[in-house]
Amino acid sequence: MNTRVRTLGSGSLGVVVGALLALAALPAGALAQDQEVTFTRDVMPILQDSCQSCHRDGAIAPMSLMTYQETRPWARSIREKVSTRTMPPWYIDPNVGVQGFKYDRSLSQEQIDTIVAWVDAGAPRGNPEDLPPPRQFADRDMWHIGEPDWVVPIPEPFLVPAEGANWWGDLFSPSGLTEDRWIKAVETKPSAEGFPVVHHAVTRLQEHEDAEEGDFLNEYAQGKNGDIFPPGTGRLVKANSIIRFNMHYASIGRDVTDRTSVGLQFYPEGEEPEKELFSRALAQNFDLDIPPGEDNVRHDSYHPFTTNVRLTGFQPHLHNRGKRQCIEAILPDGNTQTISCATWDFGWHIVYNYADDVQPLLPAGSFLHTITWHDNSAGNRWNPDAENWAGFGQRSSDDMSFTWTSYYELTDDEYAAAVAAREAMNADDN
Ligand code: HEC
Repeated sequence: MNTRVRTLGSGSLGVVVGALLALAALPAGALAQDQEVTFTRDVMPILQDSCQSCHRDGAIAPMSLMTYQETRPWARSIREKVSTRTMPPWYIDPNVGVQGFKYDRSLSQEQIDTIVAWVDAGAPRGNPEDLPPPRQFADRDMWHIGEPDWVVPIPEPFLVPAEGANWWGDLFSPSGLTEDRWIKAVETKPSAEGFPVVHHAVTRLQEHEDAEEGDFLNEYAQGKNGDIFPPGTGRLVKANSIIRFNMHYASIGRDVTDRTSVGLQFYPEGEEPEKELFSRALAQNFDLDIPPGEDNVRHDSYHPFTTNVRLTGFQPHLHNRGKRQCIEAILPDGNTQTISCATWDFGWHIVYNYADDVQPLLPAGSFLHTITWHDNSAGNRWNPDAENWAGFGQRSSDDMSFTWTSYYELTDDEYAAAVAAREAMNADDN
């Protein structure tokens, strides 16, 4: 089994205790004025929308941000993390390329400004009556895609000890399917008990354990609720395929056992979707040359599309030294168009799914051009060894560069219709 274990060093989890002791008593409401940015009126709604799915008791983040008392001691740190766009974890560059994503949990500039103004004003509480009703969270047993037809758990319950380093690794389970089935929805979900310790879980379909190629299935992260594919599209799960669970577990101070599973919803037997939705490792670069100690090491790689395609999502795939990835389209007429750039943080494996009305449409003959930067300096907190050269490889000390790309193919007529619909929509907007 290809299991990788890695250490986070002193670990972000340890920081929590010290900071909580710094809790300062504030004169409740004393600072609130109408024009002032206050916690109850202005900040709480942002925390509810964008933070509490992870920052609440029993969830993955190191501290709860459910009340003023809980939030106040973190004000400075919150200011820092939101203004550098480190939190919420969402690393798309908002200034280049296509904008508009499903499950986008990033903050708008206005929301960031609100939080910064609130902290700079001394983090006032405001009028308790302004507080919105508490956010309700879904039951942890609930499948957001609806009841699955088929559920495949990790091979055995996984114990995450009370104390310990973060754990990354791959677990494999047979799908148990004895015939090919088309799926129309998929969700990866920790067990209700395991929920607090599952930092992320990424599932893939493979023909056997050692296969490098394979189809991406789904990414679990809090605040994301499974993938229901666009109508008429589906993904093929081949008979006897294996599911690879790429897990990131984090200890939370008590022993917790998790049994993450993946749930599938099928097309009725014998029914096929019009389109196969692919999620493939494209523009893989096997020829990385990352000198010791160097930052901003660039590599380029390409994938030709021989058919028209509609891109529905992407995820950079880099290892510890990864820093940033941009993807662009080189069109048959020679023009290029930046599609997206995303900073890479090894601690988060985020899939970026484009909103339906902005999904890039690429004509046959286009190339996907992937540009990746690695940071092999000691300044990269994830770097296992800044003294050594790194190249392509499977080991955790090696690195990688490719783009998980989700797309489906379009006939010439469908492509022309999609482009016309897009142009009409853009004309309406102007
Ligand atoms: C998808 C889950 C998730 C969301 C959403 C999220 N956080 Fe976090 N946050 C975490 C995790 C996990 C950590 C611990 C560090 C890490 O793993 O990156 C963290 C760390 C932090 C820290 C640093 C704590 C420390 O130890 O110094 C701050 C501050 C923070 N988050 C604020 C926020 C704010 C404010 C929001 C919303 C605007 C938010 N986070 C949204 C999961 C999340």
